[in-house]
Amino acid sequence: MADSTPRKFTRRNFIGWQIAVLLTSTVVIGLAPILVFIWPAPPKGQKKAVLQVSLPTPVDQLTAGDAVKFDAPTSPNSAFIMADGGGDNAAGELAFGGYVVKDQTGKVNVFAINCSHLGCSIALVKASTDHPETSFDCPCHGSRFHLDGTVLHGPAQDPLSHLTWSPGSDPKTINVDGMILGF
Ligand code: FES
Repeated sequence: MADSTPRKFTRRNFIGWQIAVLLTSTVVIGLAPILVFIWPAPPKGQKKAVLQVSLPTPVDQLTAGDAVKFDAPTSPNSAFIMADGGGDNAAGELAFGGYVVKDQTGKVNVFAINCSHLGCSIALVKASTDHPETSFDCPCHGSRFHLDGTVLHGPAQDPLSHLTWSPGSDPKTINVDGMILGF
């Protein structure tokens, strides 16, 4: 026959439970920041998306040494995701514009608009008598970049960041990896 006598709750049991509760809370409090760092919660109101962008000139009609600027869609509010980084830019950071460029070798690249020095927006400046090479120039501190994204003139020390892209459904569009913000 089973013993139905209730177990005595001794002083030793009480202290044991207190120690167990204390140890468990210490471990949970200690691990929580590490777990949040490893698995950060996605920012509220943001989700990754492939953004369709219209270009003023179709990619296949760009001549070597030419580039076209594009902006992130605003309806819904969106941004592009940098594929790589250097300097002030980093993979995963957001850009609100970019350039499709065909360099002198005919290679097509798509860059984020952010200067790698401190993030100002670069602009395409065509070659002229006092500007011997077509380049992406930054108005803030004078950095310049070759059309392949490498540094032509400092203070920037790192190349422009690429955007991940693919041809769109028609020649005037491209698809760029991005983020919809605030939906
Ligand atoms: S932010 Fe472009 S040169 Fe400083």
